[in-house]
Amino acid sequence: MARTISSSSSRASDALFVHRDTPYNNSSIPFSFTPENMKKAEEIISHYPPQYKKAAIIPLLDLGQRQNKGWTSISVMNYVAKLVEVPPMRVYEVATFYTMFNREPIGQNFVQVCTTTPCMLRGAYDILETVQSHLGGIHVGDTTKDGKFTLVEVECLGACSNAPMMAVNDDFYEDLTPETTKKVLDVFAKGSIPKPGPQSGRQTSENSAGLTALTSKPYGPGEHCTPEFQ
Ligand code: FES
Repeated sequence: MARTISSSSSRASDALFVHRDTPYNNSSIPFSFTPENMKKAEEIISHYPPQYKKAAIIPLLDLGQRQNKGWTSISVMNYVAKLVEVPPMRVYEVATFYTMFNREPIGQNFVQVCTTTPCMLRGAYDILETVQSHLGGIHVGDTTKDGKFTLVEVECLGACSNAPMMAVNDDFYEDLTPETTKKVLDVFAKGSIPKPGPQSGRQTSENSAGLTALTSKPYGPGEHCTPEFQ
């Protein structure tokens, strides 16, 4: 009986694991680090013994992605391979495995909405729906027509105690409601950066119901001892 071959593809990255040349992404497009980033790259590489330079592939790809407007082109990958002296395939393997590397161009603001269980139970799909409609009806994987936002759906980003949440660029926006989500997006749309963290008034992940323990002065040594134990 013939079996179908299944290949798992990450819905979040919505990317094929193969590279196909396009006018904006092919190896004839030059890429090299700016002098400032080259200094950073040398510093990163210096953290590893010379024979293990390849251990720097991930931070160097990250640096390249940041310089390349948030996405990792084939030229970025080839450049990193050259820097750490490995066959390009070694770098392609890394870039296609980790969903943090975008292999297609993205908008100015990269919105990642978490829909894993803790966030899902606290309304992540409402947040996702709000982002989609507030950004003009785009869908997961799309970029807005004005190029300001790209939206993806991601797995747990590690801020579950402040669910539901989304990351925009390098910052987390937590304790979201549809209203606060729209406010955050509006600030980004104006070119500013809203205050990251919980949008509910919490400072961090303290109890949202307020203080429920240690509400009275803690007793000191001996204060509550009966006389026979003193
Ligand atoms: S489940 Fe959303 S941050 Fe962990």
